[in-house]
Amino acid sequence: MAIRLGDTAPDFTAETTEGTISFHQWLGDSWGILFSHPKDYTPVCTTELGQAAKLKPEFEARNCKIIGLSVDPLKDHVGWSKDIEETQGVALNFPLIADPERKVANLYDMIHPNADDTFTVRSVFIIGPDKKVKLTFTYPAATGRNFVEIMRVLDALQLTAAHQVATPVNWKQGEDVIIVPTLSDEEARAKFPDGFKTIKPYLRITKQPATIPIEA
Ligand code: BEZ
Repeated sequence: MAIRLGDTAPDFTAETTEGTISFHQWLGDSWGILFSHPKDYTPVCTTELGQAAKLKPEFEARNCKIIGLSVDPLKDHVGWSKDIEETQGVALNFPLIADPERKVANLYDMIHPNADDTFTVRSVFIIGPDKKVKLTFTYPAATGRNFVEIMRVLDALQLTAAHQVATPVNWKQGEDVIIVPTLSDEEARAKFPDGFKTIKPYLRITKQPATIPIEA
């Protein structure tokens, strides 16, 4: 069944390049990003894993763990890791789930049979510290994802969670944000002492209220 925003991220136990993990326990109190790859030893996936490894310190600074998945066995992951290090200039530094029986892939609806009935599509799940799914998106096998964009939406999600603000179109960190409509003007004045600009009663703009990464 499809996983929707607000659902509890399904728990599982799986073999990974960093040992067997129990997903919820591994997440602990962190945010988490689970992303699937169609297959080992494929070019787009190789570049994505290299980019994710380079950005890992940035994700860590945001209290966010990252974990990949591919439906090939662990021994292939281990061999492929060497190629990733050689070609991308960075070693795999986060767990990659080996899912040859497609248990996790099926649990997370990562196989879209009308696209390909064997391999996963490129799914992304951002999971909050409450284990609820905060964001999902799906790319086809031939299109690499933009991990800087994944970081941008993580920043937006964390700002919303901490400060009752929403982020406008094309928002980037440091730019003004929108006060959520559920907050009254009086509440907004108390919450945002530097004030806000009312363009319409439902469109109120204020300065980004915290630097990113946001202090836990
Ligand atoms: C790739 O990762 O390069 C890839 C995987 C499956 C289909 C097309 C491309």
